[in-house]
Amino acid sequence: MDSFALIIFGITSNLAQIKLIPALYDMAEKGLLPPGMTIIGTARKEMSSEEFKEYFKKVLNTENIHHQHEIKEEVFNDLCQRLHYVNGNLDDSKFYQKLKDYLDELSGHGHPCENRIFYLATYPDLYADIFENVQKFDLNKQESGYVRLMIEKPIGSDLESAKKLNSLLLKYFNEDQIYRLDHYLGKETLQNILTFRFGNGIFEPLINKDYIDHIQITAAEDFGIGRRGGYYDKVGALKDVGQNHQLQMLAFATMDAPSQFSNQAVTQERLKILQALKPLPEEVVFGQYEGYLNEENVEANSQTDTFYAFKAFIENDRFRNVPVYIRAGKKLKQTVTEIVIVFKIPENRLFKNLKSGMEPNYLTYRIQPNEGIIMEVLTKKPGHKIELEPSVMEFCFKLDPHSHYFPDPYERLIADAIRGDQTFFNDASEVEAQWAFVDPLSNAKSKIFKYQAGSWGPKEADELIEKDERKWIEPNMLYCKI
Ligand code: BG6
Repeated sequence: MDSFALIIFGITSNLAQIKLIPALYDMAEKGLLPPGMTIIGTARKEMSSEEFKEYFKKVLNTENIHHQHEIKEEVFNDLCQRLHYVNGNLDDSKFYQKLKDYLDELSGHGHPCENRIFYLATYPDLYADIFENVQKFDLNKQESGYVRLMIEKPIGSDLESAKKLNSLLLKYFNEDQIYRLDHYLGKETLQNILTFRFGNGIFEPLINKDYIDHIQITAAEDFGIGRRGGYYDKVGALKDVGQNHQLQMLAFATMDAPSQFSNQAVTQERLKILQALKPLPEEVVFGQYEGYLNEENVEANSQTDTFYAFKAFIENDRFRNVPVYIRAGKKLKQTVTEIVIVFKIPENRLFKNLKSGMEPNYLTYRIQPNEGIIMEVLTKKPGHKIELEPSVMEFCFKLDPHSHYFPDPYERLIADAIRGDQTFFNDASEVEAQWAFVDPLSNAKSKIFKYQAGSWGPKEADELIEKDERKWIEPNMLYCKI
């Protein structure tokens, strides 16, 4: 592996503290940091290199629900060998001169930095200045090495702004240099959907309109917005997790088999689903949890959604007329994310007349917690009579006898970017297709329904599905419970 520098703009940001620094530690622990890798953090604050290392240590030892394991001294020391810090204002060109000099100096001291990955962990308002200066100081020039850019949501706030940002990006970088990160694509449980579907011959023939009645996707969290009011109140649930994570979940569950497992082929198939999605602005419900208006940094009369539910269709031959119901929200009854494929009840089912005889089969991709893939089937209740009972056939990650480790999505995606693999990153057209679908739903927000913390959202969300004679499926927390 060639030596290279990972340059993180905004190393003191929330994102860096919660996700990036822990992911780098995990990579160090697993030996995934290439020998010649240098990590350069940048932020406004002045810090000596010792203080910077102390900062890293403090971050790693701060309680973090996403990273709950012991910090080993020897791993931390290995990580420290790679750490550098350059301070300055990202909208000030002097900073880029300083960064360039620093990179040159490192190269002169045997740490070549011609290969570079820039990670934007900073406010989108600064992007234009960053790109302009990176260009001005030739930092994006790929003369004797590669230059890549990692960027996270929000990629715009609607289709128009996303297009603007994408064209701004393309002014300074080629598409094959841009790594748009949606951490859901790095989730083991999501990637496993592709292996489950396309690595086995027996399920795929059933994933279509002939066998499927409908699809449900739930992304529920039992906690509120915490201290993120400043960000969240401007965005709302639909744009926070609907436009990106949930649409990608749908794409993984319904895309056609790619012709090969390559970036281009996989991205193309995801894109086809996103472009085939039909928004139904009259079939969306928005909610806000009671007490939201008292949260820190929330507008007094905020109409921001902390919950949404909608119905949509995938307009292709495979899924024509199969409704997809999607919901997500904060302060709901349970933290759980899953996709459920509800199968049709066959016309000729033999045991129709028995109790449970009209229960459909469910295929659940449990993204988290109790991660796994679960098939709900009907079996015979042991005894003298013919009686049916629902039973489950489960694959549970945590029961995996090989005890593979579960990489954090950030660890996985940073490693992919180092290898130059864009398969699990979004390209410009995917992001734009997502906005093209979400904009009409977002624009249809005329009313926001209050719901109680600890519920499954407003009753209007129930009505949305019940008028189709279906019901939201209560996630079964006994699945894959160890
Ligand atoms: C983030 C959202 O992108 O995803 C958060 O901004 C949300 O509001 C989070 O809580 C959910 O991610 P995960 O991996 O915890 O399911």
